Amino acid sequence: MATNRIRGNRALLATAMAASLLLGAAGCAREGGAEASKDGGVVHVVCGATEDWCAATTKKFTESTGVKADFVRLSSGEALARIKAGKGNAEFDVWYGGPADGYASAGDEGLLEPYVSPNAGVIPAKYKDPQGVWTGVYVGALGFCSNSKLLTERGIGLPDSWTALLNQKLAKDIGIAHPSTSGTAYTTLWTQVQLAAGDEGKALDYMRKLHPNVLQYTKSGSAPAQMTARGEVAVGVIFAHDCVATMEAGFPDLRLSFPAEGTGYETGGVALVKNAKNPTSARKFVDWALTTEAQEVGPSVKAYQFPTNPGAKVSEKVIPLSGIKMVDYDAVAAGKAKSALNKRFDTEVAQAPKS
Ligand code: G6P
Repeated sequence: MATNRIRGNRALLATAMAASLLLGAAGCAREGGAEASKDGGVVHVVCGATEDWCAATTKKFTESTGVKADFVRLSSGEALARIKAGKGNAEFDVWYGGPADGYASAGDEGLLEPYVSPNAGVIPAKYKDPQGVWTGVYVGALGFCSNSKLLTERGIGLPDSWTALLNQKLAKDIGIAHPSTSGTAYTTLWTQVQLAAGDEGKALDYMRKLHPNVLQYTKSGSAPAQMTARGEVAVGVIFAHDCVATMEAGFPDLRLSFPAEGTGYETGGVALVKNAKNPTSARKFVDWALTTEAQEVGPSVKAYQFPTNPGAKVSEKVIPLSGIKMVDYDAVAAGKAKSALNKRFDTEVAQAPKS
């Protein structure tokens, strides 16, 4: 009897387990099905890298995966504002390119969906968010991009320190973007915070001293490269790789230098937008963006950032980061401070460009 009861109970247990497994499987299928049916087989990307890179990357992604992709190129602050405006009715599925502190800031505002891609394992820890909010796809250092002819006319050499940019001979002769719109410019601002041992007031003091030498605060971070190339300003404070690309585009008089105090750098990110309309395609994009195939696209369109995937081929035009003195740049901390620090820049240094 007792044996029969045990047998009976076992049979009941087995039936219950099988039923719950079946229910579980049905549940999963329903979830997967719901997500898949929600997905339009396309990914809408808000892209912070150069226009050419955004185009080449989305094209290659489609060729490689069969998933359609389109993009809008926006500077970091503008991308963040558009993602925020789309909360509840997401316009984009994925954010790709542009410094990670913008992503960290968006993550803090609940605008991104944490996602640890199965391909993220190979990306070094220093280039990804510990919470999985964003993953790094490239790295690039800030530098000074100078028009050597203009510097000779001004009787000065290549700027080799942040202090050198304060030279009165460079009055209205520097091009730099505005940190509210540009991730490049925010990288510059946060670099000053790091150089001032975390003192935001001192960092803003430096930017105020630099102000009389700034001809114009542009919206996009790389715009001062063209201003310098055209001879509108003598020096552009930009990412070094944007200077290399502009030299290669036909402006060999440009010269690149780095500040002796140390410079800042960006980790270009990729992340899922929260409540994306095409979540399956968006994950495929993030997965693909971390592959060597994706990270080898840049140099084909003169984008010479350093890839974060250690297996990706590195073009000989990429400036080795090991040769540059860098500040300790924590994108998560920079992202937390971003909104308030930019507001201070707006009121204490210069208003954001209108259009
Ligand atoms: C250029 C650089 C990228 C950088 C981006 C930031 O496209 O090549 O490396 O991430 O600028 O753009 P932003 O306009 O926000 O400064």
